[in-house]
Amino acid sequence: MQQVHAFPVLSGPLAKASAYANDYREAKTNLHPTASLANLRNSFGGVLPAKGQPGEDVIAELIKAAEPGLVGNTQAGFHAWVMGGSNITGVAADWLTSIWGQNAGIYQCSPAAATAEEVACGWLLDVLDLPREASVGLTTGATMAGFIGLAAARDEVLRRAGYDLAETGLQYAPPVQVFLSADTHVSNRAALRFLGFGQRNIVEIPTDDQGRMNIADLASKIETSSNPKIILATAGHINTGAFDDFPALADLAHAHGAWLHVDAAFGLWARASVTTRAMTRGIERADSWSTDGHKWLQMPFDAGFAIVRDRDAHRRAMDITASYLSEPPDGGRNATQFNPELSRRARGFAAWATFKSLGRDGIADMVHSHCACASLLAHKLRRIPGVRILNDVVLNQLIVVFDPGHGQAAADLATQRMEDALNADGRHFVRTAIWRGQRVLRISIINPETGPRHMADLASKIERLWTTIRA
Ligand SMILES: Cc1ncc(COP(=O)(O)O)c(C=O)c1O
Repeated sequence: MQQVHAFPVLSGPLAKASAYANDYREAKTNLHPTASLANLRNSFGGVLPAKGQPGEDVIAELIKAAEPGLVGNTQAGFHAWVMGGSNITGVAADWLTSIWGQNAGIYQCSPAAATAEEVACGWLLDVLDLPREASVGLTTGATMAGFIGLAAARDEVLRRAGYDLAETGLQYAPPVQVFLSADTHVSNRAALRFLGFGQRNIVEIPTDDQGRMNIADLASKIETSSNPKIILATAGHINTGAFDDFPALADLAHAHGAWLHVDAAFGLWARASVTTRAMTRGIERADSWSTDGHKWLQMPFDAGFAIVRDRDAHRRAMDITASYLSEPPDGGRNATQFNPELSRRARGFAAWATFKSLGRDGIADMVHSHCACASLLAHKLRRIPGVRILNDVVLNQLIVVFDPGHGQAAADLATQRMEDALNADGRHFVRTAIWRGQRVLRISIINPETGPRHMADLASKIERLWTTIRA
């Protein structure tokens, strides 16, 4: 039998991990993974050893195997996707979460975890200026947050129509119609599928060139529907950063008894800064919102928030109760009331610590600075012949086409070549996507370290590379 060690055996792997952690964040080397899948399988692979190894050796092996396959989204030159940089204080709190080994399912399992969550959720509503009476579930990300908001919506619109979903199930209830932005993020289509909605439940609402829902089209379609209704809108489109017209959407939802859910994975954070807040006007009138902690708030992965105005609808959709799962004291928090899991990670510690380390002003300044960086970059790129920015740069997103002027196929090819060229020296990480049928270079400004000087550097690199590729 293996010897059971007291605590010091932990200090080996932990010391190894923490010494390495500093070096890793300082070194800023692996913006792009260098290992192939075959390399990684080889490094991680092999037969599971019969006997356990010393923790320190395991961690050393893990570092060696993982590092060539890591992506540097913690670095200033990362613009490939809208992913945060894992705030270091949040990371430290996340380490402690694991050290403490808490199960944040119910209050009794970890009063500290439940209270940290309760306070962090209050700060969230405060920073985002959403109804303070709303309830919040901490999730793995915006996909699950959307799932929760839409589950509450489904329950409530059916309840209003006289159906108790817990009793009837979907089969014996009338079909719910979901009025969906044609440009909704794919994760929302997945969430709807998980909730038992198919394409026949969905009414697609066309969008304009920025991805904003056509309100007149929605108004005419919603008028003809006598079914229970949900409207699913977007704050911060994944490509353009655009915001739907929330005052108009809230009016329509109100007039037709529809539930308004807003996917605001990163756009909701525009409310934190006075310089961007106006774009979210009317969003506070929605019924539920999904947002991420691991995007603009910079919480370590994974973290999202499902925010629901109607606490009862939220609870009806999610609650897990049993006699052995006691109620919290004094109106305290059982996370099982707001999440689809029982046992779960205590994300409240990292949320609490990230909020504290950034502070209200820190969040506002970061959002403002990223949007200012995006505008600055757009300004510089617009001066370069053959470079076209397709979106109104209202937030932190740019979509760019490199057009040599010989038609779309040539522009698609040139844009693809620019992606490859920009990524080649390992100082930047950008990606392309297809928008309105053409290839675009997506540039997201989301890393806390990214500032104006990085924009100047990126713009001059783009100009230099484009001059060569165009020629
Ligand atoms: C607008 C939008 N909605 C939803 C999601 C899904 O978020 P997550 O990956 O955190 O589940 C994303 C992710 O990029 C997004 O940008």
